[in-house]
Amino acid sequence: MRVDVIAGARPNFMKVAALFAVADARPELELRLVHTGQHYDAGMSDVFFRDLGLPEPVRHLGVGSGTHAVQTGAVMAGYEAWVAETRPDLCLVVGDVNSTIACALVAAKGGVGVAHVEAGLRSFDRTMPEEINRVLTDAISDLMFVSEPSGVENLRREGRPAEAVHLVGNVMIDTLARMRDRFEGLAQFGRYGLEDGGYAFLTLHRPSNVDHPEVLSRICGELIWLAERCPVAFPVHPRTAGRLKEFGLLDALEAHPGLHMVEPVGYLEALSLIAHARMVVTDSGGIQEETTFLGVPCLTLRENTERPVTVTHGTNTLIGRDWALFRDCVERIGAGTYRAGQGAIPLWDGHAGARILDLIAGAPNGGGPA
Ligand code: UD1
Repeated sequence: MRVDVIAGARPNFMKVAALFAVADARPELELRLVHTGQHYDAGMSDVFFRDLGLPEPVRHLGVGSGTHAVQTGAVMAGYEAWVAETRPDLCLVVGDVNSTIACALVAAKGGVGVAHVEAGLRSFDRTMPEEINRVLTDAISDLMFVSEPSGVENLRREGRPAEAVHLVGNVMIDTLARMRDRFEGLAQFGRYGLEDGGYAFLTLHRPSNVDHPEVLSRICGELIWLAERCPVAFPVHPRTAGRLKEFGLLDALEAHPGLHMVEPVGYLEALSLIAHARMVVTDSGGIQEETTFLGVPCLTLRENTERPVTVTHGTNTLIGRDWALFRDCVERIGAGTYRAGQGAIPLWDGHAGARILDLIAGAPNGGGPA
């Protein structure tokens, strides 16, 4: 069975890596990596192939950046040509980026089965482009692989057939567990003159945080407050770098001795910095899960999360724009009184990828349309 595995943007690579890592056990499945090219900088894409040991893509669509319509449309046109040429049996998409919905749409209309990994997650915030991508991808998926119980409930409420929905665990955690020995020994904090457990790791890239000057300016003020108490390692996403410059906020951050601003980092370097951090401040989706798994306090600069288990069972606090809460959490983390997580999340055990391939191999017609 020919299975196209779609990856396009940075958060996809560690998820698809979990499937390729166990592909040898399922020789009846021919996994073919298709890279849409949504992310194209070496630091946003190539370094992940190297760190994660991903195979060369069988096709690179090379779409690059653009408005949502331009980017989504370019992925659709490119993937449609590939589907016509090679007739896959199943298109497997992960996560919630524009490449995810674009390829799912092409496959569904082309009579190719669609499998969605990380299905069912909902922020219930339709101002997030990812939420639109999540809802629409699940609506046209034949097989849905879910990472936490809330996802099963969301899909049930949306009327998706129970037999197509499988709670399998978290492929991103599979990759983290597989790579743990490699990143734990790296001690990347030393590169920035930081101490083990003595710094904050920061990521910031959501349009809702970085695209509006007054919002980004307020966040920068709080980051300087943080950097005065605890040094901060901050790999800067290209979108954020552009906005900081555009809004005249870059110089003040760069000049601050407690803020270590660097280019985007690779997978192993990022996980090394996260694992040894005192705390993480982020607006990423995946990092909320990685910190919960590693037991590192996580302060999320968003009003909501599609990953509620990280709040109810993990180490995550939703800060939104409540800066009093932010400062209180930072102080509690410093004092050692911030709550610990409840430990392992069920099925986040390193075997989600194997469960997914078993289910695809066992599904009638590979899960595709009859
Ligand atoms: C995308 C995903 C988001 C994910 C994020 C991780 C969507 C809707 N959003 O957002 O869910 O959390 O990836 O990074 O799919 N750029 C570069 N080089 C690159 C990639 C991007 O310079 O390799 C710059 C370009 O100016 C581009 C901007 O970043 O316009 C945004 O890139 P884009 O892929 O549109 O969205 P992200 O913000 O990265």
